[in-house]
Formats: sequence, C-alpha cells, structure tokens
Amino acid sequence: MSPIEKLLLENKAWASEVKADDPGYFERLAHLQTPKFLWIGCSDSRVPADKITGTQPGEIFVHRNIANLVIHTDVNVLSVLDYAVNHLKVEHVIVCGHYGCGGVKAAMTNHDFKYVLNMWLRNIKDVYRLYSDELDSICDDEQRADKLVELNVKEQVLHLAKTSIIQRAWVKDQRPQLHGWVYGLKDGIINPVFHMDAGAPIDPLYKYDDL
Ligand code: CO
Repeated sequence: MSPIEKLLLENKAWASEVKADDPGYFERLAHLQTPKFLWIGCSDSRVPADKITGTQPGEIFVHRNIANLVIHTDVNVLSVLDYAVNHLKVEHVIVCGHYGCGGVKAAMTNHDFKYVLNMWLRNIKDVYRLYSDELDSICDDEQRADKLVELNVKEQVLHLAKTSIIQRAWVKDQRPQLHGWVYGLKDGIINPVFHMDAGAPIDPLYKYDDL
C-alpha cells in the first residue's frame, strides 16, 4: 500500500471509529462552527494546533505558514484574520511559534534559498535587525535562535495590532485579545511570551483615527 493510500484508509478507520463512539458527531459539526480562537502557527508538522491545546474540531480556526508570519501584504493571512474577527467573532488571536523553528534558523544564515523562500525569510531577517543588539549579545547559536523565535512572535502580534481589522474590532467590540506563544518541541509546553488586551496602546504612527 502506498503512503497516500494509507492516509485514505486511516481516514475511513477514523471516521467509523468516531461515528461508533458518537453517532451524531458529523451531523452536529456540519452545522456548527463557532470557534473562539484563531491560531496563526508554523507549518511545521510537529506543531498541530488542536492536539497541543486539547481542542476539538469546531473549536479553533487555523492558519499556518512558515515561521508563523503576519505580513501586511499577505492576502491569505489577512483574509483568515478578517473572517475570524468579523464573521466568526473570535475572542482570541494566538500567534504560536516554536523553539527550533527551521524557518527562523534559515533566516539567520546567509544561504541563498532562491526565489520565493528568500522573499519570505527576509521578513524574519527584518525582525532580527530590529533586535540585533539583544540577539548579537547571545553567544550560543541555539539560544540566539530561540530568542529570535520569541521576538518574532512578539513582532507578529504587533503586526496584527497594526491592522485596521484588529483596531476596528477593539474599538467596536473590545475584542479580540492577542497572544504570542512559543511551543517547545522538546517538552510539549507552550510558553506565553507576549500579550495585548483589546485597546492596548500601539505606536501612534500605525493608529487609525477614522475606524
Ligand atoms: Co517552524
């Protein structure tokens, strides 16, 4: 059996197991999507949002990309944010990075990853540049990378707060709260590193006054 056939077979086994356990499960879920959380995480296969938070289908709306970036020209992430905030009316937006992130490590090298990957990773180099004094003072390579993972998560949360989507929801609805988390591959524990309540102060340069 090929690996791809195995996926489909496992799927059938899973579906019948769930149905045997709870006959109304799929019918109920088909009519219900009211997640309270938007998760913006890394695409890394070792960081499954639902498993590590113990959430069930229907509970968490998910967007993932390399190194969990929130880029102000990325229609994909902004569409997910818009839908989650304005239609699903989530209470929390979580940016979750992880220690040992390959995207972050790649951005710390001078290697040419060619074309699109260079473009994507440049956003992480920009975060490094913002905090270069702090980062350059860390001698150990792994510790420096882990610190950049934390700072990157913080920057992405700040990027969220710069969007009119978040600022409008804060003014009109006093939500969502923004969270910056880092997941540990080695121990499975999430480390909360940054937080912004609805209406938290932001750099006036980025503040909209006509929301
Ligand atoms: Co990663």
